[in-house]
Amino acid sequence: MTIPFSTGTFPASAATDAARSPGLEGVVAADTILSEVDGARGRLILRGRAIEDLAGQMSFEAAVAFFWQGLLPLPSSGDLAAAFAEARLKAHAIAVPVMQSAGPGLGSYERMRLGLAALCRDDAAEDALTMTGAMPVLLAAAARIGRGESPIAPSVAAGSASDLLAMLTGTEPSARAVAAIDRYLVTILDHGFNASTFTARVIASTGADMGSAVLGAMGALKGPLHGGAPGPVLDMLDAIGTPERAVGWISAALARGERLMGFGHRIYRQRDPRADVLKAALGQLEAADGRVALAEVVEREATEALARHKPGRPLHTNVEFYTAVLLEAAGIDRSLFTPLFATGRVAGWCAHVAEQRATGRLIRPGARYVGPQPAG
Ligand code: COA
Repeated sequence: MTIPFSTGTFPASAATDAARSPGLEGVVAADTILSEVDGARGRLILRGRAIEDLAGQMSFEAAVAFFWQGLLPLPSSGDLAAAFAEARLKAHAIAVPVMQSAGPGLGSYERMRLGLAALCRDDAAEDALTMTGAMPVLLAAAARIGRGESPIAPSVAAGSASDLLAMLTGTEPSARAVAAIDRYLVTILDHGFNASTFTARVIASTGADMGSAVLGAMGALKGPLHGGAPGPVLDMLDAIGTPERAVGWISAALARGERLMGFGHRIYRQRDPRADVLKAALGQLEAADGRVALAEVVEREATEALARHKPGRPLHTNVEFYTAVLLEAAGIDRSLFTPLFATGRVAGWCAHVAEQRATGRLIRPGARYVGPQPAG
């Protein structure tokens, strides 16, 4: 007997158990003060404020300070910019040589994990600050090493978003590109008990250190059903090519049983509010010719096709769709989309780890055994 876990199909006897929830769908695993994902209304709230009131309204550093308040120690000034700049210097001195020492052929994401591991000191507060502040250095260095280029030293005068772009490209970034990256990092800072955050909390629930929890979360984020989707969104737009080809391409992909990247969500039954927050920033950037128009047509046609394809399951645009279009317009290579997602989400993971350590229990669900019993 085969058990196709991907669709959650189990033997009939097990399916009658009301406590069983494949994928933990609908299960409330803990209380949190951090974020609420309201799937029915299509709303995301971070510590009492709607995502629309944070992203594009404040810098990444200010948003993290707001998000961490009461859970992780903040500098007395309340401003994380200087602490993050210090973390970038530390990362350049300690983590980058470790990342350089690994052989070629390692992907950017994997190289970043090496750098992150080199920075952890088993002190939750310090590690949260160091890891969150260091991510721009790790991302830029990983990308440059992968391209056979030397990593560029950080600038303490710059903010995280600006320094990230400067270290990545070796040129002074435009104010618009910096604003887009800042907005993106705040938009994806936290999002309830998604797979990577839950992973971080599971690891933290065992009493393991902050670094282990964040590194585990990075592993969970990598998959295409979670943070690995935006690159494939661009692949899809490339394959469609022109607006006239959208309908045919989408119906052929669905007929082949493929998933359309950038659509559908476990919680949202409406459009993901983060898609609009990111789409709003596109007007300020110069996207490649026709890209936004193509994206809008694909969004409309895919939403209609998915409604026909799965009438019982509302499938709308998720955050990854306009992430892809926005980051491409900001000059980020698609291979760096998931690393950039992690760069913003580390702040969220750290807060969840702190909350889990303060209030949580060991997370240990059961499983229904459906294999054979011993003979006799
Ligand atoms: N394209 C086509 N069909 C989709 C789909 C998509 N993007 N998303 C879900 N479906 C279908 C599934 O095939 C499934 O059909 P089935 O019941 O016949 O097997 C049904 O809708 C429910 O999907 P399921 O995987 O159970 O929902 P989920 O809540 O576990 O999945 C996602 C959520 C995000 C993993 C899923 O929507 C997806 O794979 N999206 C594409 C990848 C993506 O954009 N990831 C980024 C997420 S932010």
